[in-house]
Amino acid sequence: MFNWKEFEHLHVVRKLKEILIHWWNVEVFFSDDRGLLRTIEKGEEKEFANAVCNLVINTERGFESFADFITETTKKIKNSGADFTVDDWEIGLKASIYPIYIHDEFMGSVVAVGYFHETDLEKQRTYLKKRLIEMGLGVEDVEEAIQTIKCIKKNEVDYFHELVGLVAEEIVTLHNEISVREERISELNKELGTRYKYDTMIGKSKPMQDLYSLLDKIRESESTVLIQGDNGTGKELIARAIHYNSHRKDRVFVTQNCSAFNDNLLDSELFGHMKGSFTGATRDKKGLFEVANGGTFFLDEIGDMSQAMQVKILRVLQEGTFIPVGATEPRKVDVRVIAATNKDLKEMVERGEFREDLYYRINVINISVPALRDRKEDIPLLIDYFLEKSAKEKNTKKKVLVKRAYEKLLDYNWPGNVRELENEIERLSVLSGTDTKITADMLSPRIKTFGDAKSIQGVRVQGKLKDSLEELEREMIKEGLRRNSWNKSKLAKELGISRAGLIMKVEKFGLDKRKANKD
Ligand SMILES: Nc1ncnc2c1ncn2[C@@H]1O[C@H](COP(=O)(O)OP(=O)(O)OP(=O)(O)O)[C@@H](O)[C@H]1O
Ligand SMILES: [Mg+2]
Repeated sequence: MFNWKEFEHLHVVRKLKEILIHWWNVEVFFSDDRGLLRTIEKGEEKEFANAVCNLVINTERGFESFADFITETTKKIKNSGADFTVDDWEIGLKASIYPIYIHDEFMGSVVAVGYFHETDLEKQRTYLKKRLIEMGLGVEDVEEAIQTIKCIKKNEVDYFHELVGLVAEEIVTLHNEISVREERISELNKELGTRYKYDTMIGKSKPMQDLYSLLDKIRESESTVLIQGDNGTGKELIARAIHYNSHRKDRVFVTQNCSAFNDNLLDSELFGHMKGSFTGATRDKKGLFEVANGGTFFLDEIGDMSQAMQVKILRVLQEGTFIPVGATEPRKVDVRVIAATNKDLKEMVERGEFREDLYYRINVINISVPALRDRKEDIPLLIDYFLEKSAKEKNTKKKVLVKRAYEKLLDYNWPGNVRELENEIERLSVLSGTDTKITADMLSPRIKTFGDAKSIQGVRVQGKLKDSLEELEREMIKEGLRRNSWNKSKLAKELGISRAGLIMKVEKFGLDKRKANKD
């Protein structure tokens, strides 16, 4: 249930490891609750930055010695219940060990290994050399490797341990995030079974369920509906779902994009015209309102409509009548109107760009469509759906995404919402050619590099240690505040510090909401 490899990929963990290597040439390892070394296996060649680890762990005997040490020291820390401990690997290198607890249950440890203490440096070097030569390693290699081992000075010890501890904390945070997500998904699966009510719409998340129950309530009503949501969130899909689940379903569903035409054309498009009413009007033409009679009329991008058109639409909504271009008599229709926009109509009303009376007339029932980033648990379902769709269209076998690619898709913030996801999956299906596997390196660059740019990339690994630690702390708090929507209690818990402590740090780093938003 604990995915150690995943933790290794965590951006924060990678960054912390980089810092630990840069400053003290120390390697970080994980062990599970039984003390088994994770993320590295026997017989696996691995390149370590720490030259002694590199020499020793890549030999069979050395690996065993190391694995034993990890088991022993993990047992020790588990039994002692200590916050952390420092131990000696028998060959003569020091290690700092932090336990990982999830809800008071011991899950394993983080071991940072490969340094000397400040005192008796020469003695430590001599001992290490003796042991390595006893292991059958070449004298020259050994001497060269030992030169690179660093000692942790007394005034650095606290910082060093703090960093190793942070690795353990980040693992706990990520693990908790993942299990909350998984719990939520399995709950939803139970609630909904495998069938969805609105079968064109994919999504089992809470926001989508709220949407379905709203649709249940309103589909039979005659009231006008205003659907608001960002680009590609599925506004049109929802409008169709309302129509095809209402008693009007056997009549037409007509769509008109209000931004696509100039006023005159839109006028004639919507309301029709009489023969001879303008040059080119060689015969009577029915407007879309008339075509939609008995059915549903979907007015898309209603926020782009001119003031003059707004007046005419208002009339249809209020009286159910309109006058075709060039006609004298009004006509009456029975049409349910659904409007959609990605603009903030209310704000447009305040700015005088949209008629207030029309706004209230349209906004009888308001549907605001959740953005994809607010319902990330639906992403796997959508991916599956689009993979299936693409396979059907191309008559090929359904493709599979590797886990890493999934994670990247989950991390991304999807400004273009479902449409962007759909396009990405389509692109991946094409790119992967005859390969059934889709790997992370095939992802679009913006998705592949998303987490890297966002998190703590700015941390320095040069200059004063204290400064770089403060910088790291600042970045972690800044990023954590965003992630937790400025909920300080939640973040304090995550970081394992008191709320007061966090508030002090927020003050110290000038990270209160308004300032942080300006960054
Ligand atoms: N919940 C969903 N399940 C499956 N497909 C969806 C879902 N939501 C959106 N889509 C798909 O995403 C694409 C965009 O949806 P749609 O055109 O309805 O969005 P929109 O909000 O009208 O976008 P725009 O703002 O660009 O007009 C469509 O191909 C649609 O089928
Ligand atoms: Mg649309």
